[in-house]
Formats: sequence, C-alpha cells, structure tokens
Amino acid sequence: MTTEKVTLDVRTAVRDRYSQIAESFEAGTPANCGCNTSVSSCCGDEKEEAVNISAIEKFYKESDAATLPEEVTDLSLGCGDPITLAALTPGQTVLDLGSGGGIDCFLAGQRVGPAGHVIGVDMTAAMIEKARANKAKIGADNVEFRLGEIEYLPVPDASIDVIISNCVINLSTDKPQVFREMYRAMRPGGKLAVSDMVTEGKLPDGLKSSLSAWAGCVSGALDVEEYISGIKDAGFVDVEVIPVYLDREEVDDAVRQLGGEIELGDLPKEAVYKAVFSAKITARKKI
Ligand SMILES: C[S@@+](CC[C@H](N)C(=O)[O-])C[C@H]1O[C@@H](n2cnc3c(N)ncnc32)[C@H](O)[C@@H]1O
Repeated sequence: MTTEKVTLDVRTAVRDRYSQIAESFEAGTPANCGCNTSVSSCCGDEKEEAVNISAIEKFYKESDAATLPEEVTDLSLGCGDPITLAALTPGQTVLDLGSGGGIDCFLAGQRVGPAGHVIGVDMTAAMIEKARANKAKIGADNVEFRLGEIEYLPVPDASIDVIISNCVINLSTDKPQVFREMYRAMRPGGKLAVSDMVTEGKLPDGLKSSLSAWAGCVSGALDVEEYISGIKDAGFVDVEVIPVYLDREEVDDAVRQLGGEIELGDLPKEAVYKAVFSAKITARKKI
C-alpha cells in the first residue's frame, strides 16, 4: 500500500469517526470517542456521563465552560484547556484547529470580546454544522466556523494573533505540514497554545502504540521530543511543554486490558505511567 493511500485511509477513518459522533450526538448525553480512558472526554469509557462531567470539571475549572449550553459542553472532545493556556486578551484574532462542536471557540469569543474574532476550522462537515447551530443558539457574533483541513488552513498569511487546538494535531497524518501552516497563518509576535496527546520515552513499539491508541483514540500521537522539534523546525521559538499525566489506576487498567497485546518485560512501572500524556504546549512566532 502506498503512503498516500495510508494517509487517505487514516484521514477518512478520522472524518468518519467524528461525523458519526456529531450525527448521533444529543445534548444531555455527553459525547465520547469510544476509547477507554477518562483522561479526556475524547477518550471516555462506558460510563459516558461520569467521564464527560469529570472532563469538563477537570479541564475547564479556570474558564467559563459552565456558562455554555449543554449542546456545546456535552460535545466537548478535548484533552485540556487551551483557553486558559492562551491567556487571551480583548481584540485578538484567534484560530482553533479542529474546533469540533466549538467549545474553545465560544470561550475564546467571550475573552476577545466584540473587537476580537475567532475562527474555528474543522474537516468534518457534520461537526461544522453542529458548531454553526451552537453559534446561532449562543449568538456568538465574533465566532465563525470554516470547513477545512488543518494541513491547509483556510486563512491568509500572518493574519492570526493566537492559535489554539485541543486534542486534534495527534490525529493529523502530516504533523510537520500542520506546524508549517500554523507558522504561516500566525502574525509575528503571535502565540501558540495547544493541548494534545503525546508519548514519551523509549518504550517497546507495541506498548507505545497500544497505549496511544487507547488514550488518543487514533494511534497518531507523536513522541514529545519529536513534537517539540517539529514546532521548532517550523520556526517557532520559546517552545514549552507542561505534562498532565494520566490517572495511574486507569493506566493499570489499560495495561491489564492490553495484557495480551503488549510485552512489558522489565520496564519500570514509572515509564509506563509517563508513556502517554496530555501536554500543554506553548510557543511564539518571533517579531
Ligand atoms: C478530538 S475532537 C476535538 C474537538 C474540539 N477541539 C474539542 O475540544 O471538543 C477532534 C476534531 O478534530 C477534527 N479533525 C481531525 N483531524 C483534522 C484535520 N486534519 N483537519 C481538520 N480537522 C480535523 C475532527 O473532525 C474533530 O472534530
């Protein structure tokens, strides 16, 4: 199979998964991606409601998510809070990569105010439809949603002050291209504030990919060092990463569940706990 074919297959699988989530979504029943960990609502277990509530409480404690309708909060599929990380100010233009139902766009809209502007980009038409319906319901005049791929951002060069993204870049089949596009779209002096799933350390391939698939829904998470180099190679400076580790009991459960597929050998338990995590990533484009 050619690389191009694999890329198209993965992209189609990702789009199909999120179309299905958007189309079957009903407010009052929190959405999830059908994986096994409660690190994020993207990766909920069977107890969907408990998982999603904890995700909102866990990630959005410092923001105003509770002010948003459940059509928005129940469709939250992220693994962090890029809004608090971004420290937005009134008047800024913000771009959200993989905006889903729009939760981070609406929170950003509140922070940048009427003089600011927020653009959410998502490649899944059904998600864009949900986000636009949410915009109408909230009356968020400073927020808009564009159908597009984050590898080819539908915005002009140097037009964005702050780029945010929540649990999306790990799903891309061409991350260096995403990093280049973020750099192109950002104005000099602009800021990047991303929450994403990453992996870390020299782990057996089977373990790494099984844990990433389990935690990240689709097994595309980059090693944190590769992520940092990719961002730097695109031109960003002052790259910082703060890890938010998964709950240890959940990792134990996952390792038990994946027991037949992976070989732990004499690997220290600590390395397994830190193998996959949600990262808060910030960077800047030089003036
Ligand atoms: C895990 S959900 C996160 C949604 C949102 N950021 C949130 O926190 O609720 C991933 C979203 O990214 C979108 N997505 C995945 N890969 C994409 C790509 N290459 N280009 C544009 N959108 C993408 C999916 O359609 C989906 O809506």
